[in-house]
Amino acid sequence: MLEYGVRTLDTDFPYHDSLECAPEMTCSSLTDLNDAQTITIQSDMTAELPMLDVFMPMMKSAAIIAAGRIGLFEALSDGPRDAASLAVALSASEQAIASLAEFLVTQSYLEQHGTTFANTPITSRWFTSQGIVDYNPGLIWTAQAWDLMSGLADSVKRGGPDKSLWDKMVDRPEMGSDFSRYMHAFARHLTTDLLDNIDLPPGASRMLDLGGSHGLHSISFCERHPELTAVIVDLESALSFTEDLIERKKMSDRISLLPGDLLHADWGTDYDVVFYLSVAHNQTAEDNLAIMQRIHQVLRPGGIVVIHEYLDDQPILAYHAAFKLTLLTETATRIFSCQEISQWLAEAGFAPPIRLDLKPIEKGSLLVARR
Ligand SMILES: C[S@@+](CC[C@H](N)C(=O)[O-])C[C@H]1O[C@@H](n2cnc3c(N)ncnc32)[C@H](O)[C@@H]1O
Repeated sequence: MLEYGVRTLDTDFPYHDSLECAPEMTCSSLTDLNDAQTITIQSDMTAELPMLDVFMPMMKSAAIIAAGRIGLFEALSDGPRDAASLAVALSASEQAIASLAEFLVTQSYLEQHGTTFANTPITSRWFTSQGIVDYNPGLIWTAQAWDLMSGLADSVKRGGPDKSLWDKMVDRPEMGSDFSRYMHAFARHLTTDLLDNIDLPPGASRMLDLGGSHGLHSISFCERHPELTAVIVDLESALSFTEDLIERKKMSDRISLLPGDLLHADWGTDYDVVFYLSVAHNQTAEDNLAIMQRIHQVLRPGGIVVIHEYLDDQPILAYHAAFKLTLLTETATRIFSCQEISQWLAEAGFAPPIRLDLKPIEKGSLLVARR
């Protein structure tokens, strides 16, 4: 388990590198650990047929998203089926289903046995309700993201979107709901990392979950710690199903919602732990500094802030570079370095944070700092 505020850490959790990110350490030295994981895309076809490098990733992405949207992977979750049976189950054209399924076989998302198609083990594991985490909501959201990314050239020229993602969600509430459902799937994937590695201060009874959206992290911690209550602050657009989820988990008396802009909302006070999970990249550096100062004020002495982020380390990961472009088209914000976040925390009065890089590193990092 972790001890905060010490230079060397022991952790018996096997899936993490753990290290302290004190302000005086240069964060670039920490990132050497990640060099070996830099992703490069290689294709031996592209030298002679360069457009394949553009066309094939587009078709792969389009086909997987289409399969998710029409429910193809879920329809195969009980076993193999032929195109005729899938067409009936999905109200689709038999010939078109066969074309989609054949392409997905070439991309290793499906297997073909004679005339029947089946999910591969990986597809079953990640894209059906029988898997560990069902990322089908991620496919539904990626269909929305596809639309947003078609404006990338304009966003590059402007330095941001024509309208922020949050404003688009006010105009089109289904976008907010799709996004939260995707975040909920991702949170199911992340919640064990949090539960296994975050020790609450002794006797902790109050938690603030800034940008808590679907509520899963608050629910998981309240389930683990029976004496804990939580307040979730998020935009109205992100809370479309949170209340239902909390009710289903019989937590309505312990978890409350505070809809609104966290930059202006009154969060309450006397918290033992504040979650700021994947929210810093949606704010400017100036706003993040102000938020850290407010978090310090609302924490009791000895309380902790837990930050989950994708850190802007050098050399940059391909995934982080792609995420920066996503942020450019969504909110005109960016990811930050460990050093920048440590600086905000120090200015706000926190002890130097402890850093945990999750595995794989594309899953992000946790920074934990004590008041
Ligand atoms: C990437 S999601 C992370 C959701 C959740 N914390 C998690 O880890 O799964 C970012 C969340 O921050 C919320 N958010 C961003 N800016 C906000 C603001 N100014 N006020 C309130 N919520 C905000 C978004 O609505 C969204 O739910």
